[in-house]
Amino acid sequence: MSASIYLDHHSTTPVDPRVLDAMLPYFTQEYGNASNRTHAWGRNASAAVEQAREQVAAALGARYSEIFFTSGATESNAIALQGAARRAPGAHLVTSAIEHRSVLDSMRRLEREGWRLGVLPVDRHGFVDPRDVERALRPDTALVSVMAANNEIGTIEPIAEIGAAVRRSEALFHVDATQAVGRVPLDVEAMAIDLLSLSAHKIHGPKGVGALYVRRRPRAVQLDALVEGGGQERGLRPGTLNVPGIVGLGAACALALQSMEADAKRISALRDRLQQRLLESIEGLTVNGPVQHRLAANLNVTIDGVEAEALLLGLPELALSAGAACSSSQARPSHVIEAIGAARSGTAAVLRFGIGRGNTTEEIDRAACCVIDRVRQLRGRPPAPRNETA
Ligand SMILES: Cc1ncc(COP(=O)(O)O)c(C=O)c1O
Repeated sequence: MSASIYLDHHSTTPVDPRVLDAMLPYFTQEYGNASNRTHAWGRNASAAVEQAREQVAAALGARYSEIFFTSGATESNAIALQGAARRAPGAHLVTSAIEHRSVLDSMRRLEREGWRLGVLPVDRHGFVDPRDVERALRPDTALVSVMAANNEIGTIEPIAEIGAAVRRSEALFHVDATQAVGRVPLDVEAMAIDLLSLSAHKIHGPKGVGALYVRRRPRAVQLDALVEGGGQERGLRPGTLNVPGIVGLGAACALALQSMEADAKRISALRDRLQQRLLESIEGLTVNGPVQHRLAANLNVTIDGVEAEALLLGLPELALSAGAACSSSQARPSHVIEAIGAARSGTAAVLRFGIGRGNTTEEIDRAACCVIDRVRQLRGRPPAPRNETA
């Protein structure tokens, strides 16, 4: 049976029909190569790419010339981290223990290749302490990378404070803002950010397209390109531009900016409702992540005494995730759950709910009932009377 309630919006989101409408002409009518300005097709494609660049820049308080298009946040992170590190061979790099694998694995690779790596701890809610960042900085620190919002437990990091600390040093500040764009206000100036990664498919745009912000002023950040080619994106990310995808990313950023406040209000009310239902009815359930400064969409819980796999297999009507999508096949708790000290020695299931724009109150109530009943069943108890879970 296929899932009927989608609650996995940290993993990916459906394309907004308005985004799709903006993209469609660039497949079959305006199919020019944006690098070829000798005819109208190329010029129209190029104009659409430049408009999208403006739209992405507007979501970040950046200038359009500081936006580079990529295939997604994984690639943006790689270009930012490896591109900056290669300019400072053997330098000291700093990151946090709860970063996405695309940051942590890039950093670990650099460490194997001769760079020095410092990994900052987080507190039990997943917060990086800006004073720890300050203490970690050394004269040879070239780069600090801290995510804006965590993809598993939703922690919104104190990016402005961390940026201010990094700005007092010579190091560059990179922020993986993949889960934060369109969900929390971001401003590369106010937050002293030098490099920022984002992805379209987390904000109702298409998969396979993202962007990297690279500061130009007052100090232009220099990055080494990771691949060589036709010089597109000023040589930093060569390759024929994905025009429909880029148009979709621009449209998704513009829509996210418009609806951010209203979405956050509505979605956090649904999240709080789900959280309350589960807490009321399931003994041994704890919420992972902070009460305040958590993404509106996020609910991450540990349920003691049940297996994640058995729980998820028994919930075919719900699409949700056991921790992060990329590590959900592992039996071990995720590195984020370990870093906040929430890993259990005994049997326990960690579930991540990601609520989205399209979810309704009825869906949230149905999802709560399904989870509560399944947990009772696994614990050998009859389903809860409906007034207990309504
Ligand atoms: C925080 C974070 N960074 C990076 C990525 C990778 O993004 P993409 O799928 O665009 O490569 C993800 C996606 O799960 C994410 O949540």
